[in-house]
Amino acid sequence: MSVTLNVNGTKYTVDAEPDTPLLWAVRDHLELTGTKFGCGIGQCGACTVHVNGVPVRSCSTPIAALDGAKITTIEGVESKASKVVQEAWEELQVPQCGYCQSGQIMAATALLESNPNPTDEDIDTAMQGNVCRCATYVRIRSAIKSAAKELG
Ligand code: FES
Ligand code: FES
Repeated sequence: MSVTLNVNGTKYTVDAEPDTPLLWAVRDHLELTGTKFGCGIGQCGACTVHVNGVPVRSCSTPIAALDGAKITTIEGVESKASKVVQEAWEELQVPQCGYCQSGQIMAATALLESNPNPTDEDIDTAMQGNVCRCATYVRIRSAIKSAAKELG
């Protein structure tokens, strides 16, 4: 069975069952491996991508639900917010092992795209589902604030 997916502005026909999680469609079928597998049950955020600009857990989103949707992965995110987020991440050297970071960046970018001037509470709410085993949370929060200042 094949499903058409619009990923990073390109339409792909993916030969997979409709209940295949988007995570495996992008990683295995499209070879976009920046999106990571963490828990597989929607609990860690490592697999975060944007669907129509909203952060979603790709491990828990079947491709059948994505007909006509605009999917963006870390490889294709290129809004102004994503640019300043990635610059802030680099400047503040946020990553440690790096495994969770594409999910963190996708969550932070979606936050600043919808709310360029977030409060601490907004940041906590937006980022609470993104787990970092290396506990880079303090730097993540600083980088989001620095990116917001840059956008402001
Ligand atoms: S791998 Fe998707 S939320 Fe953990
Ligand atoms: S940087 Fe290692 S898990 Fe987050």
